[in-house]
Amino acid sequence: MTAEELYNRLKSVQPGTVLCNYSMEKCEQMLPLVTEINERKKDQDTVILAHAYCAPEIILGVADYTGDSYKLSEDATKVSQKNILFSAVRFMGETAKILNPQKNVLIPGPLTGCSLADSITGAEVADLRKKYPDHTFVCYINTTADVKAQCDVCVTSGNVMKIVENLPTDKICFVPDRLMGQNIIDEMKRRGVKKDIVLHSGFCYVHKTYDPELIQFFRSQNSDLKVVSHPECIPEVAILSDYVGSTGQMVSYIKEQPAGSTFLLLTECGLVARMQYDYPDKHFIGSCSMCKYMKSNSLENILETLRHPEKAQSIELDEATRVAAKKCIDAMFHYAAL
Ligand code: 13P
Ligand code: SF4
Repeated sequence: MTAEELYNRLKSVQPGTVLCNYSMEKCEQMLPLVTEINERKKDQDTVILAHAYCAPEIILGVADYTGDSYKLSEDATKVSQKNILFSAVRFMGETAKILNPQKNVLIPGPLTGCSLADSITGAEVADLRKKYPDHTFVCYINTTADVKAQCDVCVTSGNVMKIVENLPTDKICFVPDRLMGQNIIDEMKRRGVKKDIVLHSGFCYVHKTYDPELIQFFRSQNSDLKVVSHPECIPEVAILSDYVGSTGQMVSYIKEQPAGSTFLLLTECGLVARMQYDYPDKHFIGSCSMCKYMKSNSLENILETLRHPEKAQSIELDEATRVAAKKCIDAMFHYAAL
């Protein structure tokens, strides 16, 4: 076989799925949707927040704010628009609603769950509190308002280590991410901070899939490779990584590295697409792991939500739950600022 014959067989293979391919023709098809969304959001006093894992056409075509959950929850407190359309998952919409009760918060995608947020209920936390009455309850931001309402302080992947270290207690119950919890235990040991941390059993189905063999394989191909992972990955992956951080922190780390660097990015593929756009002088070996929940947001359902918002897309919280959950988020802002 010649190289040309081999090429002719392989040339149609594209990285990722059809979702990731952007031809001129595809962009021409998307343009009317992008234009109508951008016009409507102005006319309808709506801001669009989009998590970094959403599809590139949302991030680069219609979003006003993008980033990780911590940045977006801060952005949500500063926006002037009456309506927040949150291209993300339900727990993020709830966080925006907790912080902005007077605003209308809408989630466009049909799959609004999250494997972490769905892994524990407020009632289960209430039971755990009876079992561990002397523990401070720390929840990851990937939780429902009901769970936050039962906890003392919330954390994000960007501030978790700082907050756990700063908490004036050494008895902590961390919910729901067992893998992030194990990473916290390891990091506290490294920092020489004594904490007794009880864990729950949740995990993110996207981040759990990466393993040390994957890192070793890519390192054997490129000894200068920089491995960047999310704290929702297993501890064996975190230990082998050059950098572990939230999606926002990974972006800052990548920005600081010299041109020509190659990164293995162990997080949802939406962030890899964004990095390829922002840093054309750097190389990215992305994973093709998609979060089905984040990727269920689309230009089509964003536009449909702007045209005909459905009641089920609007985030409603009872006031007692909202106030209790806000206390938990306010505690996060307090400890993160120390
Ligand atoms: P960040 O806090 O890094 O945005 O992560 C949220 C998330 O859902 C990761 O899977
Ligand atoms: Fe939840 Fe994982 Fe999706 Fe993040 S990537 S929203 S933790 S399921």
